[in-house]
Order: sequence, then C-alpha cells, then structure tokens
Amino acid sequence: MFKMILFVLCIALLVGVGVGGLHLYRVSERNKKEMAPYKNLSITYDNQLGRTLVIYYSLTGHTEEIAKEIAQQTQGDLFRIETQEPIRRFPWFYLTLKKQLLTQDYPEIQGNVPDLSQYDTIFVGSPVWWYTISTPVRSFLKQVDFKGRSVVPFSTQGSNYGTFFDDFNNMAQNAHVHSGESFNNLGSAYDSAVRNKVIHWLNQIKK
Ligand SMILES: Cc1cc2nc3c(=O)[nH]c(=O)nc-3n(C[C@H](O)[C@H](O)[C@H](O)COP(=O)(O)O)c2cc1C
Repeated sequence: MFKMILFVLCIALLVGVGVGGLHLYRVSERNKKEMAPYKNLSITYDNQLGRTLVIYYSLTGHTEEIAKEIAQQTQGDLFRIETQEPIRRFPWFYLTLKKQLLTQDYPEIQGNVPDLSQYDTIFVGSPVWWYTISTPVRSFLKQVDFKGRSVVPFSTQGSNYGTFFDDFNNMAQNAHVHSGESFNNLGSAYDSAVRNKVIHWLNQIKK
C-alpha cells in the first residue's frame, strides 16, 4: 500500500514538473517573440506629455523599475504607494492577497495623495495579482478622484495580466484613461529591449 502511494505521488510530482516546465518554456518563447522588435531599436522619447507623475506600487521591484524608466524618460515625478502595514511574504501570502481581493478588504495606504492638479499626465502602475490590479493600488484608486485628468495605466506580471486594464478603467474615478501597457518580468538580458518598449509606448500616447 505504502509503495502504491509513493508511486502515485512520484507520478503526480513528475506530471507537475513537466507541466510547469512546459509553461515556462512557452512563456519564454512568447517573450522572445514579443520583444524581438524592440531588441535593436534605436529610439528616443519625443512625445509632449507635459508635466508627468508616475504613481506605482511594487512589492518586489519590477513595477518600480518600469516606473523609474517612465519618470526618467518624461522627466516626471515619482510617487510610491506604501501600505501602512508592510505586506510580508509568508509562504501563504498569495492566499492572503487573494482573500483581500475577494473580500475587497484592501490595505490602508500611507501618507497623503499628491496634488494631481499640477500634472498633465498621470501614470499609474501596479503588479498583477491574481489576474487583476494589486490591492494597494485598488486602495489608492478608491480614495482618488482624477477629475478628468489624463491617466495612463501600466502593469507588470509574470505572463498574464488578465482583466487588469478593464478593471482599471472601471476603478479610476473620473479619469480620462489612455491606452496602457503591460510588461512581463524578463531577465537582465532584456533590459535595453524593455527600455525601448517603454519609449515606444510613451511616444504613442496621444494627449
Ligand atoms: C499574489 C500574487 C499574484 C500574482 N498573480 C499573477 C497573475 O495573475 N498573473 C501573472 O502573470 N503574474 C502574477 N504574479 C506575478 C507578479 O505580477 C509579477 O511578479 C510582478 O511583476 C511583480 O511586480 P513587483 O515586483 O513590482 O511587485 C503574481 C504575484 C503575486 C505576489
């Protein structure tokens, strides 16, 4: 009996590793294809987006990297959303964050919202959590009235942003939402291609 259970567990493990490996391979091939046009692009930022503010939340640094690139290109200001209680990465934190989303019990955020009236274009970036906007950014969006300002969302994710941009359109109160962009997590080999993708997107935004 014990041998039987061990055998079934081994098979389940092998299937899990196989399926996971295949998924990672597919994602990496898709990233290669998607980023190829940006690889050797020689491009500079040449849009006129006025005074820009880049608001973002980042738990592990990826969204922050994109936020900083946008701020650098557009000579904008940065505002990092911080939660009152730090989000700790316990082994079960994925489930804790899923529960926050399901119950709409979003974390309190620190500090005051910047004066948005000073800015012509406001970027808002978030990691994708469970195929949607992270809970700290949801908390921020719930307390902000964009009053007809130009708002441009961006996401970072492993590979699937789900309903992020539709959800953003629904949550950004009174905003004039422009076409956003999503950025998969890629290794440092893609750094210059990612920079080019950011610039290419920034140049497409019409005010
Ligand atoms: C709770 C949680 C849920 C996530 N859900 C998704 C998801 O649905 N789709 C996806 O592609 N990546 C998902 N990810 C991966 C993150 O979106 C990705 O690593 C993101 O770039 C992290 O951004 P940050 O480093 O700024 O926190 C998830 C990560 C966490 C922590």
